[in-house]
Amino acid sequence: MAALGGRAAVTLLLRRGPPPGLGPGPRRYRYKEKWATVAPRIPPTRLALHHFDMNYSLQLKDLWPSVRASLLCEQKYGALVNNFSPVDHVTQELELLNATDFVSEAPKKAQQSQRGTTTEEAGREESRSGEGRTVTQAETMTQAETMTQAETSPLLRASISPNIKCYTFPRGDITRFRPARPDTLGLLNYYLMDAASLLPVLALNVQPDEFVLDLCAAPGGKTLALLQTGVCGHLAANDVSISRTKRLYQILHSYVPKEIRKIVSVTSCDGRDWGQLEGGTFHKVLVDVPCTTDRHSVMEQENNIFHKRRTKERQMLPMLQLQLLMAGILATKPGGEVVYSTCSLSPLQNEYVIERAVEIAETQFNISIHVEDLSHFRTLFQDTFFFFSDCRLGELVLPHLTANFGPMYFCKLRRM
Ligand SMILES: C[S@@+](CC[C@H](N)C(=O)[O-])C[C@H]1O[C@@H](n2cnc3c(N)ncnc32)[C@H](O)[C@@H]1O
Repeated sequence: MAALGGRAAVTLLLRRGPPPGLGPGPRRYRYKEKWATVAPRIPPTRLALHHFDMNYSLQLKDLWPSVRASLLCEQKYGALVNNFSPVDHVTQELELLNATDFVSEAPKKAQQSQRGTTTEEAGREESRSGEGRTVTQAETMTQAETMTQAETSPLLRASISPNIKCYTFPRGDITRFRPARPDTLGLLNYYLMDAASLLPVLALNVQPDEFVLDLCAAPGGKTLALLQTGVCGHLAANDVSISRTKRLYQILHSYVPKEIRKIVSVTSCDGRDWGQLEGGTFHKVLVDVPCTTDRHSVMEQENNIFHKRRTKERQMLPMLQLQLLMAGILATKPGGEVVYSTCSLSPLQNEYVIERAVEIAETQFNISIHVEDLSHFRTLFQDTFFFFSDCRLGELVLPHLTANFGPMYFCKLRRM
């Protein structure tokens, strides 16, 4: 036995059965415990909530009760407009319902609010200097305009794909979108998704003709959003699960015309091996990893990662996430960018994975990584999403009763 490795030894023991005397008696005397009566099965949703109460109350402190309540309430959706279907009719229809495209609205609103803040500051400055030299109204306005230009330019420079359109209802409005309808060619006019799921795609900021890899792509919401930019040179969409990859195919067929589908290659590989297969080839890589899917875990019993039999799988998630992120980094060209995302609030699955990946890239692969600042997303999209202000690396959208999107964590890395 001593010569056997730990895993082999355990397997052998299980096959042989227990030693004599310790096994069950003759079959007719065996007492079968009624587990249903002696040990009540705790539903995985309850286990998930208990786990989150223990961990997130420490992380989010006073914010946790409100985030918790939001997780347990109906989530909000966004309607990602399908640019491959005639858009004018659908956008008019959505606007009549009082929905707005949060992507195109964001820079306008951010500029307005900054202009307001700067004018207010300039006004305060004027009254402070009132006792000495009087600053004229014209001078105040000039100062304000100069500051506005300076302060808003990084926001405006941080290009947000002008082609992506996603409609949401205003804060506090919980109207539901109607299901999407097919156009004359049979393509659906919009795709309903958690609007916060669009943020990692916007952060990736795909430029014309770039080669893009979506490492964990199924069922395909973000793949579809990447295609809506209309600029991908090539898009490799991969997911280890064959059944989920079938859903990805369905989405592509329902939303994307044949000639555009030619730029997409769909594969079902283990993403952890990708770096070895096609290392250093992509300009942009999206690593949207499997996670504890916090909202799903507190609401749905089906396919719940908090099910007792999946404990080991759940505990191994940060390791899998780290391996997938490393593969994503290795698949990126020098100078290229990776966006890592999860729909969990857990720092162990978010910032911790980023920190470890940066460290491993440097020490084991001699690759230097820069963690990009995405704080302008907080300013740009503050009217649509509720952001956590204490995220050490990357950005985190918190579910909120008036803006019940997320959770969504995203962080952008540049391979130097
Ligand atoms: C959060 S989901 C991706 C959602 C998708 N990006 C979207 O927007 O529709 C995570 C995906 O990772 C896939 N996955 C899990 N392990 C993987 C692996 N080792 N390699 C590639 N994909 C994996 C799962 O099958 C699952 O579809």
